[in-house]
Amino acid sequence: MKTVLNVALPKGRLGEKVLAMFEKAGYPCPSIHESNRKLIFENEECGVRYFWVKPSDVAIYVERGAADIGVAGKDILLEYGPDVYELLDLDIGKCRMAVAAKNDFRDDPRRTLRVATKFSRIAADFYAKKGRDIDIIHLNGSIELAPILDLSDVIVDIVETGTTLKENDLSVVETVVPISARLIANKASYKFKGEAIAAIAENLKQQTEATT
Ligand code: PRP
Repeated sequence: MKTVLNVALPKGRLGEKVLAMFEKAGYPCPSIHESNRKLIFENEECGVRYFWVKPSDVAIYVERGAADIGVAGKDILLEYGPDVYELLDLDIGKCRMAVAAKNDFRDDPRRTLRVATKFSRIAADFYAKKGRDIDIIHLNGSIELAPILDLSDVIVDIVETGTTLKENDLSVVETVVPISARLIANKASYKFKGEAIAAIAENLKQQTEATT
């Protein structure tokens, strides 16, 4: 019987790009393009079963083996540190994690820096390396509001085009780390379905190499 790989795809814009790469790699699934509310799509012949999940949940599905492989942003992998194999940088979903503040912000190193973020661990690690005392204010969205309303001095957040910052009179102070989408695998699946996973990974790798 052919091995079927369970693949967790991140819902949204990034997911569409990821799906296109998997299709080009030889793992199409026509039913996924029919508009309905279904969440799971299978192509037995190609040996794939796709399902859409919230981008920030992909790593959980893969870590716990509900998915054999998946695609997650490096931001999620750094923040949650899931116990998975990171197989490949897909070179899409590129953006950066950055510190940003109001355009007129001047840092006073003698004061504890108030940092608003959804990525508490990334922010804590970043400032710990600098030996800087910070007070983390964990938010779940609309992070850019924090410095505007003086809830924080700076934010640590994803910057893609820079439009959100610009439209709110904020600017990047420094880059924390570049981010892109990564192919990840469950550790047990990598052992038991290794051949099938390696075949997909190799094919995706060729696509990333062709575009760089
Ligand atoms: C992300 C991020 C920024 C924005 C950056 O938010 O938190 O707000 O995108 O993109 P830009 O540089 O192209 O403007 P997202 O849309 O994911 O929603 P969120 O507020 O829930 O984080």
